[in-house]
Amino acid sequence: MARAAARNGYAPYSNFRVGAAVLADGKVYDGCNIENASYGLTVCAERVAVFNAISAGNRRIDAIAVTCLDAGNGSPSKRLPCGAWRQVISEFGDEITPVIVDGVGEMRLRQLLPKPFSLD
Ligand code: THU
Repeated sequence: MARAAARNGYAPYSNFRVGAAVLADGKVYDGCNIENASYGLTVCAERVAVFNAISAGNRRIDAIAVTCLDAGNGSPSKRLPCGAWRQVISEFGDEITPVIVDGVGEMRLRQLLPKPFSLD
């Protein structure tokens, strides 16, 4: 589903389409990156997927997959999820939430964000 969502990526500025899918309460919610001429307003695919799940009423995310359709064969760092999303998912996942990065492998959220900001 992440791969299918990436095809909807709106990326006329970077030509770098990204797709994400999150698992919540047994259902999968997807998202793609959505760029804007005012570059800073661009939203990453992972946040769109998380926000789709949350706005459908979920409060817990069990797993996520992310894919970068246009990453090519270069460095795996091109495929890793951005820092903004790591903080956003830490609100709804936990240290061991699986993160599947297409072309790289599966990791746990704590590996990607060992010390998230928290008000708890
Ligand atoms: N992008 C994502 O959607 N997720 C990431 O984790 C990294 C980057 C998008 C934002 C922008 O549209 C394009 O990829 C290039 O940075």
